[in-house]
Amino acid sequence: MNEIYDVEKYNKGIKKVLITKEEIAAAIEKAGKEISATYDGNPILLVSILKGAFVFMADLCRAITVPCEIGFMCAKSYEGTDSTGVVNITMDLEHDVSKYHVIIVEDIVDTGRTLKDVVALLRARNPLSLRVVTLLDKPSRRKVEFDADVSLFTIPDLYVIGYGLDCDEYYRNLPYIAEYNTEA
Ligand code: IMP
Repeated sequence: MNEIYDVEKYNKGIKKVLITKEEIAAAIEKAGKEISATYDGNPILLVSILKGAFVFMADLCRAITVPCEIGFMCAKSYEGTDSTGVVNITMDLEHDVSKYHVIIVEDIVDTGRTLKDVVALLRARNPLSLRVVTLLDKPSRRKVEFDADVSLFTIPDLYVIGYGLDCDEYYRNLPYIAEYNTEA
């Protein structure tokens, strides 16, 4: 049978809810207020790293009450639940970042490789300023030195799914963050 239709296996993959949708919403509301107060009157470009950050971006931009623009990049480093260690920029930004205060909106900082590379790439294009806001941080997994400016939740070394984060492209549509059952 095609695994896509194996609902039992799919449900088994959701081990435990770690962060509820209400907790996520409250943290994003607060982050949106802080960004609105900090950047009010300045040209803001929110840059989301696809695909994992698309849900976070959608909610964070709606929690920001000042004008802002939105751009997308695609960076890939994972296959299944393993980091490949090689970051590929498969889709680049269309904006001239030198005209903006750039805020990178990321789903999770794990080894730190993706953001280290993306930040270096964007810094070289001379943005007015550059900050990184991540929904999740897994500091115990770091392989390169990297700290986000804002991280909404710090989590232990677990593979997580939901709220944009996937395992082999599934579970991105869960409204909460859950621990993935690696035995599923
Ligand atoms: P890093 O380069 O190792 O920091 O990983 C960055 C990317 O790996 C994230 O943007 C995610 O897309 C993916 N990733 C890392 N940890 C997890 C996880 O626990 N669940 C799902 N995706 C993850």
